[in-house]
Amino acid sequence: MTTALKPVLLLGGSGVVGSRAVAALRRLQPDLPIAIGGRDLARASAVAQRAGNATALKVDLDRADLGAPAGAAFSAVVTLLKDETLNSMKYAQAHGLPYVSFSDYLFEIGPEVALYVQAPTSAPILFLGHALGGAVTVSALHFARELRSIDTLDVAVVVYDDDHGGPAAHADIERGGRVPNTLLRKGGRWIWASGDDAERTVTAADGTEHRGRAYPLLDVVSLAAATDAPNVRLDLVVRSAASRPAGKRPSTEMIFELDGVGAGGEERRVRHEIADDEDLSTLSARGLALAVERLLGLAGGPPVAPGLYNPETILHPADVVQKLEAFGARIARDVRRG
Ligand SMILES: NC(=O)c1ccc[n+]([C@@H]2O[C@H](COP(=O)([O-])OP(=O)(O)OC[C@H]3O[C@@H](n4cnc5c(N)ncnc54)[C@H](OP(=O)(O)O)[C@@H]3O)[C@@H](O)[C@H]2O)c1
Repeated sequence: MTTALKPVLLLGGSGVVGSRAVAALRRLQPDLPIAIGGRDLARASAVAQRAGNATALKVDLDRADLGAPAGAAFSAVVTLLKDETLNSMKYAQAHGLPYVSFSDYLFEIGPEVALYVQAPTSAPILFLGHALGGAVTVSALHFARELRSIDTLDVAVVVYDDDHGGPAAHADIERGGRVPNTLLRKGGRWIWASGDDAERTVTAADGTEHRGRAYPLLDVVSLAAATDAPNVRLDLVVRSAASRPAGKRPSTEMIFELDGVGAGGEERRVRHEIADDEDLSTLSARGLALAVERLLGLAGGPPVAPGLYNPETILHPADVVQKLEAFGARIARDVRRG
């Protein structure tokens, strides 16, 4: 029953990803009340009106109460923007509400970890700065479970260069680009990859080859922790929109290449692909929606207890893959390319 729940506060719910997350949540949870927070109330109101059973809220992240009216109450706080104050996380902890951090790179989660350590029993805190709102990591683990052990887990996300998010996403990409090296796991060691280590050739689902670059998202640490594979990387491929068939919109691919030992003890090298006709923002919004319904206990188990979480620690891989397919993803297993 979602009707008894207070609204989920989506800070940034009127943005490119946020408005798609509202739509995805509404599809998964028709009765879930939603509060859409942003600086521009008219913009947030328009998204709320489209969604139904939703309200809009003018937010001030410089305030401890986020600018919410006295007496306002929420069931979770989801922050779809880089909250440099972290007031949104502190608000969630103070009110014992699940919190989702969606916009932090691998190299900048320290302040949130420290806030969590100060008050570990106050609220569930979910890191979701992962690629496509956690969908990539959780899908990779779905395939990883079919192997007894994994030596190499190479994951890539393929997008088009005209697949634009909003201004907040641009600012984040610019900030991420200022960090020259990327953390990845190679030969059982964590290295700050540069030069040749930072790049590799990725074959897209249409067989074309592209240069991918290691991208500093949380997927590498999640996947290494969950599989103990000595070699783990996540690469981003940004391909030219000019190469796309005329009239087609930006689409998104996830490419999973695993080397390891199969259930029968045999050496295995497998490649699986998940392709979707929607853009990066839409897929990220879907990943987020799946995590929010899980956090609240509306899918996959009871409400998540206070603690610090990555998506793979609260979501069931097979359920996520099934729901991604229901949204429109196409899965190709054991593909051979190149
Ligand atoms: N983890 C993932 O999978 C993933 C994937 C894609 C994007 N992202 C991240 O998601 C975030 C949103 O991306 P986007 O493309 O949706 O950007 P966007 O279109 O610019 O949306 C930003 C949203 O945040 C609100 N906002 C911005 N600054 C604010 C502030 N100071 N106080 C309150 N509200 C504020 C905006 O509304 P107002 O302008 O009205 O305030 C808008 O609703 C970015 O941080 C991006 O890096 C994460």
